[in-house]
Amino acid sequence: MDKVFGYAVITGASRGLGRELALELARRGHPTLLVSSTEAVHAVRKEIVSHYPVDCQSFVVNLADEDKTRSWAEKIAGEYPVNILVNNVGTGGSRAFETADMDYLLRIIHLNILCTTILTKSLIDNLRRNTPAHILNIGSMAGFTPTAWKTVYPASKSFVHAFTKGLREELKGTGVSVTLAAPGAMATSPEIMQRIEKQGFFGRATLKSTPDIARRYVDGMLRGKRQVILNPLSYLLIKLIPERLRIPLLSRIVKREL
Ligand SMILES: NC(=O)c1ccc[n+]([C@@H]2O[C@H](COP(=O)([O-])OP(=O)(O)OC[C@H]3O[C@@H](n4cnc5c(N)ncnc54)[C@H](OP(=O)(O)O)[C@@H]3O)[C@@H](O)[C@H]2O)c1
Repeated sequence: MDKVFGYAVITGASRGLGRELALELARRGHPTLLVSSTEAVHAVRKEIVSHYPVDCQSFVVNLADEDKTRSWAEKIAGEYPVNILVNNVGTGGSRAFETADMDYLLRIIHLNILCTTILTKSLIDNLRRNTPAHILNIGSMAGFTPTAWKTVYPASKSFVHAFTKGLREELKGTGVSVTLAAPGAMATSPEIMQRIEKQGFFGRATLKSTPDIARRYVDGMLRGKRQVILNPLSYLLIKLIPERLRIPLLSRIVKREL
């Protein structure tokens, strides 16, 4: 059991990585505040309170709506002591930019960029009052490299990466650590599983189990690590292969998903 000083806020906690992060934190004795846009989040709350002796509250909020996100975050900041913020909610996909719906593109920007910024800004004073405190931002391996057919998604995750590193520096010595997690492929939904299959060997070779990923991200966050990379080979390749070769190579792999 960890020493617990406040609540952990987890966005996108109804399924996928967010659900696993919520279960992992509850298992370690952290009270949790879960949020997603559907009633499915209440089932995760029920699962937590029936297995672990910790408080857990769940909220249905459309985090793609800036005003609703802001008023929910301000309400949480006023009502609960928070010492962990996990900015997990995010979306992506592979589509040609020219034919992708405007709504699809804006949803990526709303969830990956605006929601992360709004929640962090709304909760920062609360986190500062409840140290030791931790922020875990979920980026992506895609955030390390531009790719055709994804365009806005890797760009939005590059934002998450740069935001995390800048804020970490700014909060040095305050008792609030800021950690970047950059997952590779995770089989969190049948749709993502199909996309990974279409990527062929490369997609399958980098796949990891989601509960194990969540456990290692929580460990890294609580230790105050700068970043947690669980796909060292992909990371090394991204860092070693020059961009002019890497972008066309990765784009060819992603194109198979279309
Ligand atoms: N899966 C991968 O291969 C992969 C790879 C790299 C990075 N990542 C990143 O890892 C994070 C988690 O990914 P995941 O695959 O676990 O995602 P996921 O399975 O699609 O789950 C997304 C979560 O966000 C919630 N959500 C979606 N739209 C929302 C909205 N408008 N308002 C509030 N909640 C909303 C969903 O719940 P509701 O439907 O109930 O709202 C769900 O709980 C994301 O940031 C993603 O970009 C994923």
